[in-house]
Amino acid sequence: MDLYIDTANLDEIKQAADMGVLDGVTTNPSLIAKEGIDYGKRLAEICKVVDGPVSAEVIATDYDGMMKEGRERAKIADNIVIKLPCTMDGLKACKSFTDEGTPTNLTLCFQPLQALMVAKAGAFLVSPFIGRLDDIAQDGMELIANIRQIYDNYGIPTKVLAASIRHPLHFVQCALAGADVATVPFSVIKQVMKHPLTDSGLEKFVADYQKAFGG
Ligand code: G3P
Repeated sequence: MDLYIDTANLDEIKQAADMGVLDGVTTNPSLIAKEGIDYGKRLAEICKVVDGPVSAEVIATDYDGMMKEGRERAKIADNIVIKLPCTMDGLKACKSFTDEGTPTNLTLCFQPLQALMVAKAGAFLVSPFIGRLDDIAQDGMELIANIRQIYDNYGIPTKVLAASIRHPLHFVQCALAGADVATVPFSVIKQVMKHPLTDSGLEKFVADYQKAFGG
């Protein structure tokens, strides 16, 4: 399973890249707003750090606006992926970008038939949101499993990018369900490398060595 980081914070992206775990980046308008920086400028900075796919979401919600913004964003770097909403206009834009050879990530996917439709329109990635379904008492992981099954039934090449991952349990369940990619906040990346037995084991190794040999 590929690992993308779900952030527009450059420091977090650099830290994940330095650890050798990073395959790509996803951003969205809320994440950019949090950074308070021009979206295009930040995307250019991210693409200097990361070679893998970097998702750049359009702000426009109409077809013409999405095409205009997406074409501008696609000029930033070869690894930009245009992120479009799972709407009728988003589908149409997905087909147009696919015809132009620009990869897309269809976001805000909340049910399996949206995933089937965007795949038919040529999406490179589909982003089902786990946490936001859990928030309304629906099983987000079931959506991942259902999309996986539908794509496998028909040999559909669109990649399942599990999004809205809130904690390590979501992360591991995505790997078990066969998601192609998980996009994860930096806080969750840090959490998964933290284990009390790793910490206490390390403390004991060092203490035993120092007791025997000093230092
Ligand atoms: O990738 C989409 C993700 O950022 C949404 O996460 O936690 O806002 O539902 P969340």
